[in-house]
Amino acid sequence: MSAQEQVRIFDTTLRDGEQAPGFSLRPAEKLLLARQLDALGVDIIEAGFPIASPADAEAVRQIATEVRRPVIACLARAHRADLERAAWALEPAAQGRIHTFIATSDLHLQAKLRISREQCIEAAVDAVRFARQHTADVQFSAEDATRSDFDFLCRVVEAVIRAGATTINLPDTVGYAMPDELRDFFVRIRERVDGADRVVFSAHCHDDLGVGVANSLAAMQGGARQVECTINGIGERAGNAALEEIVMALRVRGDRNPFTVAIEPRQLYPSSELLTRLTGQSVQVNKAVVGRNAFSHEAGIHQDGVLKDRRTYEIMRAEDVGAPWNPLVLGKHSGRHAVAKRCSDLGLGVSSEELPDVYRALMTVADERKVLTEADIRQVVEAVRAAARSAAGDPVDVAAAAVSAMHESGYGHGV
Ligand code: KIV
Ligand code: ZN
Repeated sequence: MSAQEQVRIFDTTLRDGEQAPGFSLRPAEKLLLARQLDALGVDIIEAGFPIASPADAEAVRQIATEVRRPVIACLARAHRADLERAAWALEPAAQGRIHTFIATSDLHLQAKLRISREQCIEAAVDAVRFARQHTADVQFSAEDATRSDFDFLCRVVEAVIRAGATTINLPDTVGYAMPDELRDFFVRIRERVDGADRVVFSAHCHDDLGVGVANSLAAMQGGARQVECTINGIGERAGNAALEEIVMALRVRGDRNPFTVAIEPRQLYPSSELLTRLTGQSVQVNKAVVGRNAFSHEAGIHQDGVLKDRRTYEIMRAEDVGAPWNPLVLGKHSGRHAVAKRCSDLGLGVSSEELPDVYRALMTVADERKVLTEADIRQVVEAVRAAARSAAGDPVDVAAAAVSAMHESGYGHGV
């Protein structure tokens, strides 16, 4: 393996992501997101599943018309009607890819498709040949590849390569594989299959056991040179491998993952935000890379460390992923240094004499509220100053007086 090999990023936010409950998008919204994925630098945009609905077919066609740099892909089962619709949707594309798939595990063949292994191979080969009549770029996916009989899977893959597939995707459809297992799986299949050197192998990892990103990295170690992923990790059930996490794992730990991708990292956070805005589905606050807490610190020890040198508790910089950096969240675990810094950032001019009372009053309020907002901090500082003025030098607990005055004036109602 050479020092830094290129891995293609195949973004399926608009297909696998969009088909998850609560994430559906209108064609105009899909186009907006496709433009953002273009700015992000993804190599391939899977824009939809045209046979699923006329609106989705239109959306793919519109994206293929207007987004010209990346390859535009769309999904089709191994059925003529699906493939024809996909070919129609991709007609205007500068570079179009038909992505056809069929399940290869015995479970799916018997319980879902109710066809034999031979029928499966026939359908796969026919689909790839038919797709090749419309485009030279044809991706074949063996759905449920990781739970398929290995010898049979190799036969299917060999047959579709002979039929003209140019990318072979081996999805971990139900997020069942473990990282070491998936790495070996890619190694073995590439060693075993005739024609493996003529195609690009792709990994498509779901996150049912929370290892979708680890599996994608392991698949690269095993020779996958395309990974399929989504913004914010959205997708069926527990989702797909998160694009932003894969990209940052490669950047931060390139020593263990010597692969490059053509992504502009400063577009990661804007992409995540746009998706959240369009779908109305927010990202969990502790989500890696793009969650609200990904670069925030509340605990005093962490705040102190970050104020001295942010590398103590941050392995990447918010700015590098295009996110705002507001590292100090004031709450009941915060320390004096962070309170002083935050008050100074807000221009409150808190003196060293005032600081102990401001700190104690803030901690009392923080016990009542989960996180202190800018408005809370301003109000506490004002209340402490007012309490100090009315104490006029008498031995009064200024912090306690400030908090009780805030309560009397109605602070905290409706919390
Ligand atoms: O998870 C999966 O197997 C898929 C295929 C259709 C690629 O999404
Ligand atoms: Zn999937």
